Amino acid sequence: MDLNLDAFWMPFTANRDFKQAPRLLSKAKDMHYWTPEGRQILDGTAGLWCVNAGHSRPRIVEAIARQAGEMDFAPPFQMGHPLAFELADRLQKYVPEGLNRVFFTNSGSESVETALKIALAYHRLRGESHRTRLIGRERGYHGVNFAGTALGGMGPNRKMFGSSLSGVDHMRHTHDLARNAFTKGQPEHGAELADDLERLVALHDASTIAAVIVEPMAGSTGVLLPPKGYLQRLRDICDKHGILLIFDEVITGFGRLGAPFAAQHFGVTPDMITAAKGITNGTIPMGAVFVKQGIHDTFMQAPPGIELPHGYTYSGHPMACAAALATLDTYDEEGLLTRGQAMHAKMEAAVHSLKGLPNVVDIRNTGMVGAIEFAPRAGAAPGRRAFEVFLGCWEEGVLLRAAGDNIAISPPLIINDSQIDQIVSTLEKVIKRVA
Ligand SMILES: Cc1ncc(COP(=O)(O)O)c(C=O)c1O
Repeated sequence: MDLNLDAFWMPFTANRDFKQAPRLLSKAKDMHYWTPEGRQILDGTAGLWCVNAGHSRPRIVEAIARQAGEMDFAPPFQMGHPLAFELADRLQKYVPEGLNRVFFTNSGSESVETALKIALAYHRLRGESHRTRLIGRERGYHGVNFAGTALGGMGPNRKMFGSSLSGVDHMRHTHDLARNAFTKGQPEHGAELADDLERLVALHDASTIAAVIVEPMAGSTGVLLPPKGYLQRLRDICDKHGILLIFDEVITGFGRLGAPFAAQHFGVTPDMITAAKGITNGTIPMGAVFVKQGIHDTFMQAPPGIELPHGYTYSGHPMACAAALATLDTYDEEGLLTRGQAMHAKMEAAVHSLKGLPNVVDIRNTGMVGAIEFAPRAGAAPGRRAFEVFLGCWEEGVLLRAAGDNIAISPPLIINDSQIDQIVSTLEKVIKRVA
């Protein structure tokens, strides 16, 4: 293939290494990708945590094509189109009760910025404009815009960009290898780490804190499940101090854990949920912020006019709405948003069978997600061992994701038993060779 690779500055990619040895994908169907040379690759990552119903599903493809011919775009400011209202209404069926107002964005990063701005504006409208501080957590990932970068807790993503946003603090992360390694499902130990929020309240005073944002299960730093009781404790502390709790469900939303949202899976309801990715099965960029009605209604009591001066040219884009509606149809028809429950035992047994392989220091799982953590390679760059496992699996025809010292497994929710076995046997072979 005669491609000039120079001009495209690739995101979150070691550009120089990649362009020496490119890994290209040019076709996809159901559980598989194909390279331009025709090599078949099993998708163990649902693209990038987003293709939950598998690739190029006919209903979704047809809906996008139909909508492109029907109406390509409609202005979203002071104008509307039926599909955006239909989608917002339809989504009520999936979200936790009470989060029945939705603001559309185009990505997870935009959903995060939107939720945080809503939090600040909400407190201001209630006469508490002193609540401006935002709290994230170490090892969190909330996308790459300024607030998401500042609230995220991944050092390498933050260090290049100055202070990015002031008035931000972080709770401790919950990863505890010493006490919780090789736990199946939620770890037993660590609920008390939620009390770190009390420490920050004592330090800054609750009256200065607008919101706390956490991923209910941290995805990008390697599938870190919340310890039992942790999220409820966070909820209680937020309630006690009038702080809004935001769950960033960009990865966990739309079925990854075996329920439509992690909030339902863990039985804890936040004040807002940020989503993206699986909402359109990864086909057309779209994100959403689900908001408790009381927060929304506070805005509706403001003086007449535009209640929230915020939005994107492509908020509720007709093609994205058409894709999302067809995606929900596909999820419903095939029961995909709860399939993680049925597949949980199979996934769990499969990933935990890798215990005991060289340099494997932890294995974690729930629903349709798992991770294998490796000891860092002495003297090598952080995450090198996991990256070599990722490369080895790619050569063997399985796409997985290296996240720091972890390999994350998050296949489309349509995966079958033998494909899970293929992922795990490939991992076993590669780990024995390179880890
Ligand atoms: C929890 C979380 N929040 C936000 C984002 C950012 O989403 P996007 O890349 O669509 O901006 C991601 C992306 O992986 C994510 O996992």
